[in-house]
Amino acid sequence: MSDPNGLLAGQTAIVTGASSGIGAGCAVALAEAGAAVLVNYHSDKEGADAVVAKCEAAGGRALAFQADVASEDDIAGMFAAAVEAFGAVDILVSNAGMQMDASFTDLTKADWDRVIAVNLTGAFLAMQAAVRQFRAQGMRTSRALGKIIVMSSVHDVIPWAGHANYAASKGGLSMLMKTAAQELGQEKIRVNAVSPGAIATAINKEVWSDPAQAEALKKLIPYGRIGDAKDIAEAVVYLASDAADYVTGSTLVVDGGMELYPEFRDNG
Ligand code: BGC
Repeated sequence: MSDPNGLLAGQTAIVTGASSGIGAGCAVALAEAGAAVLVNYHSDKEGADAVVAKCEAAGGRALAFQADVASEDDIAGMFAAAVEAFGAVDILVSNAGMQMDASFTDLTKADWDRVIAVNLTGAFLAMQAAVRQFRAQGMRTSRALGKIIVMSSVHDVIPWAGHANYAASKGGLSMLMKTAAQELGQEKIRVNAVSPGAIATAINKEVWSDPAQAEALKKLIPYGRIGDAKDIAEAVVYLASDAADYVTGSTLVVDGGMELYPEFRDNG
């Protein structure tokens, strides 16, 4: 249930790419922690409406809103809608992301451009709009002027053959996050990243739904299980809350140990 005394009571969040997967999990967890949530979606209205219903079932307020994060106009409309519905924006979870995989020389410029546009430029545009909104509304209920969490990936440090556009976007996102944190800290704006490992969502369904591939994937995870959206959502709620008031410019890696070079357990 949405907790009136919860970590995020009285606050408002925008979650991009929240109609399914990690974004949907984050939206529901933020609502459970007491925040009003704008559930952004690109094309899956039904999915977004279902997430809104879950936020409301948790006792929270929520609103589905269509926007392409790669469009500056759409981003402006989304922030205006959140302010109109909830009065302010305290938390941005820049989560929208996609994969368009191909081997290095088969990767088309169109697929390179689209992944960079959504995963990296989309995050930049949403972060910029969030900072402007934080400044305009001034200090509210939290110790920070505003909180931004970007959804990165273990592939902001682990190179990934066949996914050059995706890995480049996440590496760029990591530096974008740190640079924004350095620049905005003195205004009491906190900017952090969560780096999920293998989380069972639509983006990697082909892998986890096939028993042989799922077993091979688990060999890359010391903790021995594929993650779920809730694993990531808990980390996001923490970073959005005053419990993390002294945390900025950090990447919280939530990957069951995927970044620990598991192939070196019995090698090297
Ligand atoms: C990707 C998933 C992949 C995981 C671990 C994520 O960033 O989107 O497809 O399973 O990284 O490799």
